[in-house]
Amino acid sequence: MSGFRKTFLCLVLSAFLLRGPFSFAAEQVSDRVHKNPEEMSCVKLVSTIGLTAGASLYVAGLVVSSILQGLAAMRTCFMTDNLHEIVKRNGFSKGRTLEDYVDFFGPEFSEALAALPDGAHWIDMGSGENRAIEEFMRGAEAQGRRVFATGITYKAGREIYEPTPGLRVLEGRYLENIANQEIVGPPYGKADIITDVMGVLSYADHVDDTLRTYVQLLKPNGVIYIYTSIPNTQIKSRNGSELDLEEWLKTIPGLVVESSPYGKITIRLKKGDPIIPELKVQSVKAGCPPTRIYTREN
Ligand SMILES: C[S@@+](CC[C@H](N)C(=O)[O-])C[C@H]1O[C@@H](n2cnc3c(N)ncnc32)[C@H](O)[C@@H]1O
Repeated sequence: MSGFRKTFLCLVLSAFLLRGPFSFAAEQVSDRVHKNPEEMSCVKLVSTIGLTAGASLYVAGLVVSSILQGLAAMRTCFMTDNLHEIVKRNGFSKGRTLEDYVDFFGPEFSEALAALPDGAHWIDMGSGENRAIEEFMRGAEAQGRRVFATGITYKAGREIYEPTPGLRVLEGRYLENIANQEIVGPPYGKADIITDVMGVLSYADHVDDTLRTYVQLLKPNGVIYIYTSIPNTQIKSRNGSELDLEEWLKTIPGLVVESSPYGKITIRLKKGDPIIPELKVQSVKAGCPPTRIYTREN
């Protein structure tokens, strides 16, 4: 949820919660004013000032905290072009839930999760606080399903609420520094589903290497679900033509790529091992997510 939506909900909730105490105080004042108008004009004045000052302070606190959060996010996202440094600062939105993931990827995604057979493996790349996989695994356990889920995140910032069999988090390392064998070694196996919601692919220096890793970790009939800012990745060819991430992915033989205008990309594999072409980094501009420009050979 965005900071703005959080603040708005906070305000509505506080108004709702403070409604009781406010109206109680107002009733007390009006009751006493009735009994002793002279004494009460003073009480009324003091109460009104007190209540107004309290409410104003509360709202001011919320506003200041939103501004501070915004400044912290700017510091995280815009003060350096070093992408690992941005990931290390961990100041971006990272608490998305399973419902958020389903919102991004649509009902097809929740059907795919529901259809995972025993022994299947979901890997969430850049899993943040791991809420989505944790919620999924708790539901699966309650239904007696024996599936696996792995979250890969440089920083989680939160413990798994309730350890669930088959759920693990690889935290504290960049994906680039984790061997594929560690991710898919027994009992986990290759992935049936890989998700990346504003995760590793959005923050990687080398988007081609990241994609290659995803393809290597995927079962032949698996699906990769990506949610990212598609135009933030630009790929230029020697003849000057320019592709965004989705257009570039669609040029790679061996991949079946579908996308929607708001940032969702799904990738399936055709038969055989696709060759992901090399890209050269031309420039990286800070942001959450950053803008990366690459050049390609043709
Ligand atoms: C913007 S957060 C998104 C988190 C989560 N997917 C969500 O939607 O709430 C980005 C996540 O990707 C992780 N990340 C980015 N690059 C990474 C890398 N190279 N290796 C491991 N984790 C990475 C960060 O640690 C963080 O957890």
